[in-house]
Amino acid sequence: MCIMLHTLAETDWIIFIGRLHPMFVHLPIGMIAAVVIVEAMTLVTKPKKVSTTRKVLLWATAVSATASVVAGWFLADEGGYPEDLLFWHRWLGIAFASVLLLGALIALTPRWSSVVVRSFVLLFALVLMTVAGHMGGTMTHGETYLTRYAPPLIANLLGPAGEAEESLPLDTVEQVGDAQIVMAMLEARCVECHGASKQKGRLRLDTPEGIGTVVTAGDPSASELFRRISLPADDFDIMPPEGEVIADDEVLAVMRWIRDGAEMTPTPTPAPTPAPTPEAEVPTEAATGEGVPGEADDSVPAPDGNEAETDEDAP
Ligand code: HEC
Repeated sequence: MCIMLHTLAETDWIIFIGRLHPMFVHLPIGMIAAVVIVEAMTLVTKPKKVSTTRKVLLWATAVSATASVVAGWFLADEGGYPEDLLFWHRWLGIAFASVLLLGALIALTPRWSSVVVRSFVLLFALVLMTVAGHMGGTMTHGETYLTRYAPPLIANLLGPAGEAEESLPLDTVEQVGDAQIVMAMLEARCVECHGASKQKGRLRLDTPEGIGTVVTAGDPSASELFRRISLPADDFDIMPPEGEVIADDEVLAVMRWIRDGAEMTPTPTPAPTPAPTPEAEVPTEAATGEGVPGEADDSVPAPDGNEAETDEDAP
């Protein structure tokens, strides 16, 4: 019992300190800027005048970076972050704090503390901080937070290309089928919070498994996904929680899609009937190369013979 209480108390502290991480991280970021300014001052004033300030600032930066790392380590324990991003954020953050601690130690040793060495340490720390910080931001705010409203040139530099084409052109909507409308809507409006880099409410809407947890195929009214987007605009539970509500025609598409079985793979032409025109299919299948044996159940028997024939005869 005693052990249990003890563990509980400990856990609360770890979570609490962990959640200070997003606040702590701003201290070394701000202070390293001050170090750079002071370092620049040594170039124009007598070094003696600023050397104490520089040392104190550098130590404060290093200590706050270390505190951020410790808090970050605790925060990572809470889970919910994408593994690979977290891995790099964690170890680059640790490298950042280590470089600063090393730099602070060097600053205490006049023999080693030359402008060149100090500049090198600072530059190295700044690079590590920028990369680790950007990864931290990506984990907190989502992949498209920075690039979504950036000018195209910058967006292309910073993020994966093609992020801009988010919504489906309306004139194609009728041809593409509900599944595709739904997938495009999730991608454009939900994945920033429910995707690979962020899982608000521990929900992913970029994988069939994740979507499956909030959809009851055949029953829209039992599907949390449908409920959340069809609420009144001022409802506390509405999704997305900020920004424009989902357009009526998209809400309807979600409703129909769930009612019709919530098929995950977008099917551009909703034609489940075995195609009487094998010739139209053969070139596409041949073009993709791999014959996806398990999936093409209904198209296997008839086109198979034809496929072999056309493969040999056509060229
Ligand atoms: C700005 C971030 C953000 C966006 C964008 C967003 N959500 Fe959410 N979502 C949240 C948060 C935070 C929660 C957890 C709190 C809650 O349940 O209301 C949540 C929870 C949910 C839940 C409940 C999860 C569960 O397990 O019960 C569903 C369903 C959901 N969102 C669907 C959506 C859909 C669909 C969209 C896109 C139309 C969307 N969300 C867009 C932040 C967001």
